[in-house]
Amino acid sequence: MKLTYHGHSCFFVETASARLIIDPFLTGNPNASIAAADVHCEYVLISHGHEDHIGDALAIARANGATIVANYEVAEYLGAQGAKFHAMNPGGAWTFPFGRVKLTLAHHSASVNAGLNPVYLGAPCGIIVEADGRRLYHAGDTALFLDMQLIARGGLDAALLPIGDNFTMGLADALDALDFLKPKVAVPMHYNTWPPIAQDPAAFARAAAARGHAVNPLRPGESLTV
Ligand code: NI
Ligand code: MN
Repeated sequence: MKLTYHGHSCFFVETASARLIIDPFLTGNPNASIAAADVHCEYVLISHGHEDHIGDALAIARANGATIVANYEVAEYLGAQGAKFHAMNPGGAWTFPFGRVKLTLAHHSASVNAGLNPVYLGAPCGIIVEADGRRLYHAGDTALFLDMQLIARGGLDAALLPIGDNFTMGLADALDALDFLKPKVAVPMHYNTWPPIAQDPAAFARAAAARGHAVNPLRPGESLTV
């Protein structure tokens, strides 16, 4: 399983039989390392309904004939705009041709067009992808929560964790998350996109190493095979 980081919380995942993009916020993302029009994939996985996670999902899904995989409300919302979709919800898993996807809890919120008339888009989620004998956890946007210990069951080959603080876990809580999740490697995300989530990923990696955890801060465009 090959992971390529595209800034913010966006990862392109290549399995033996399919290409997936998770949280494809590319247009308007100052750290995006690919244009939405250059994404070629069969599946678009979305953790929750905020614009910095839905991003270009609709355009990518429609251009590729790709299937949106998300919670019920996000899937229906994008499906109503012309995307193929598979709706799920936290705790549920589904076996796709490439492997199995399970949505998990995340402690956060989820809406679009926030302001006087927000459209609420269901439960924010984390995403577990099992394919090619590997198990990947994309935490979405979340606070630290004790049930991460449940997500660790079965082992994690990689965990993609927000570290930006303000909207999600910051460095200290993300370090505690590593203690719960015990992934073989973690990649930080959801930082340095805007000033409120400025963080030093190298400092996070050093602090994690001191606690026995491997962290690989990918630069946008860089890949990691797990
Ligand atoms: Ni969010
Ligand atoms: Mn976010």
